[in-house]
Amino acid sequence: MCGIIGYVGSENAVPIIVDGLKKLEYRGYDSAGIAVYGRGGFDVVKQEGRLEALEARLAGSPLSGNMGIGHTRWATHGEPSDINSHPHVGSKNKIAVVHNGIIENYKQIKERLEQRGVRFASQTDSEAIAQLAEYYYDGDIMDTVIRVAGRLEGSYALGIMCLDEPDTLIAVKKDNPLIVGVSEHGRFIASDVPAVLKHTNKVYYLNDMEIAVLREGDARFFNFDKEPLEKTPETVTWSLDGAEKGGYPHFMLKEIMEQPKILRDTISSSMTGSNGDIIDGMDAARFGKVVITACGSAYNAGVVAKYVFERLCRISVEVELASEFRYKDAVIDEKTLVILVSQSGETADTIAAMREAKSKGAFTLSIVNVVGSTIAKEADRCLFTAAGPEIAVATTKAFSAQLVILYILAVRFAARLGKVPPGREREMLSEIESLPAKITEILRQVDSIQKYASTCVGYKNIFFIGRNIDYAIALEGSLKLKEISYIHSEAYAGGELKHGTISLIEDETLVVAIANCERLYGKIMSNVEQVISRGAKVLLIGSCLGAEPDGKLYRIILPESGDLFSPSLSVVALQLFSYYVAANKGLDIDKPRNLAKSVTVE
Ligand code: AGP
Ligand code: GLU
Repeated sequence: MCGIIGYVGSENAVPIIVDGLKKLEYRGYDSAGIAVYGRGGFDVVKQEGRLEALEARLAGSPLSGNMGIGHTRWATHGEPSDINSHPHVGSKNKIAVVHNGIIENYKQIKERLEQRGVRFASQTDSEAIAQLAEYYYDGDIMDTVIRVAGRLEGSYALGIMCLDEPDTLIAVKKDNPLIVGVSEHGRFIASDVPAVLKHTNKVYYLNDMEIAVLREGDARFFNFDKEPLEKTPETVTWSLDGAEKGGYPHFMLKEIMEQPKILRDTISSSMTGSNGDIIDGMDAARFGKVVITACGSAYNAGVVAKYVFERLCRISVEVELASEFRYKDAVIDEKTLVILVSQSGETADTIAAMREAKSKGAFTLSIVNVVGSTIAKEADRCLFTAAGPEIAVATTKAFSAQLVILYILAVRFAARLGKVPPGREREMLSEIESLPAKITEILRQVDSIQKYASTCVGYKNIFFIGRNIDYAIALEGSLKLKEISYIHSEAYAGGELKHGTISLIEDETLVVAIANCERLYGKIMSNVEQVISRGAKVLLIGSCLGAEPDGKLYRIILPESGDLFSPSLSVVALQLFSYYVAANKGLDIDKPRNLAKSVTVE
């Protein structure tokens, strides 16, 4: 899920590329590199580690040139190292490539080329592209790109420079995102819009199997038969304001704090605004079942939604990990509503799940944050979360925005199906509208949550438990904690503990119990008693808390709300707890190790 960028124009490409890479770092940050077309050919600098390390190298030996390509890496093949960093240049120094994706047949390509005497320098799959391109190159770079693309299995977005074409930048893609930007002084390629937004808001979205041929004042597009394609640029209407920390120590904290506003915006766009009538174009009665498929936190939002949909619509809902759904030959047909949830709209597994669902005739509805992303464009219908750019790898505001859209969808669906009377529909919609103010109340408890979290950094294991919809949000609490604090955590349904997991409870285990389901309060409190009597400490989060705090139990009290929409409140307390545990450990919260924001590889 690396980020790639390229520039050709009248300016020095180096600062443009380095600045663009900063905007793409969310996609990967284990190493970075840049190649420019300099006076004597390609000048390449590649550096393991964060982008600052590359910048330091460039400060020591500055490069310049009017055309270049850059890369920020999340390694899939070959450890993060200088040599494995991109760009990769073939051994004849003729073709330089940056790659986002995975080449599944790189071993065969590599073996064949090695048999013909080609010497590989790195362990990456990506180098095979540069070497193969040089092997095929016969003076026509477009022919070469088409031939190479025909050999590659897997996914790729590529930026390509050829030594014989000092003023031409080439791009091509399959299953990984790529945009082309157009400014007065040049042409850009990038994995994502923020990388070029400083220079232009006019972008083309490249489709699979399209080739972009870019020169200073010219952007042309071709298919694999070398026929020119007419493409219209789109104007990006949003700005990068959301991409600044605004005085907060981390983007994650800023994004947590933004949630009341984000929710207000998302709720209004989904009730009366730009998302239109949220169930427009869908014949609710046609669907025999609903499948929600997504990854990570977006999957967790789906688990919450399952409880809401089933309770309100009395329709069966399955929630599937997209990475599993895509290969399971799912039992779905044109009577199935498949909901795809994705902040980025570019998660490779979710894209594949969507395509699988479409091929089986299901109606695909996506809930996406990034306008212009693949899932937003390809799904039959798309609802946008109004979360703005989310920079921290750990999602907070986009997750919360997904939840409210799913609630509104469920309520509107239930009403359309005649499962809830109009009066109750209005009541529920106004309960949803009251969530932002309740979240503001929780955010006021930040100091006490911070203080409590500072006492939790030493735990080696933290368990999250809940029942019913509280269990669903426990999943997200656990994921949030482990991804940024590196503390092992698991989420369990409270009633399931006794079937095995309780054997892990001992002194110095923390159990976070979520208690919003009034009718199940007694049940979850029994689980709390069970773990306390085995030596655990408990953090109890919820609105219906009778239990008094003592040395064994700490409480975060949430505002009153019905249990159905309470995950939106619990999650804010869980996010703050995780954030402050990680902050007290002094960790790199916005860029946790081994992760990337946008997972565009399998
Ligand atoms: C959440 O904090 C994660 N970083 C991750 O699980 C994320 O939700 C997942 O990768 C899905 O991403 P998407 O929403 O962009 O599809
Ligand atoms: N497969 C390439 C590498 O390991 C690119 C990785 C990616 O796009 O995530 O370098």
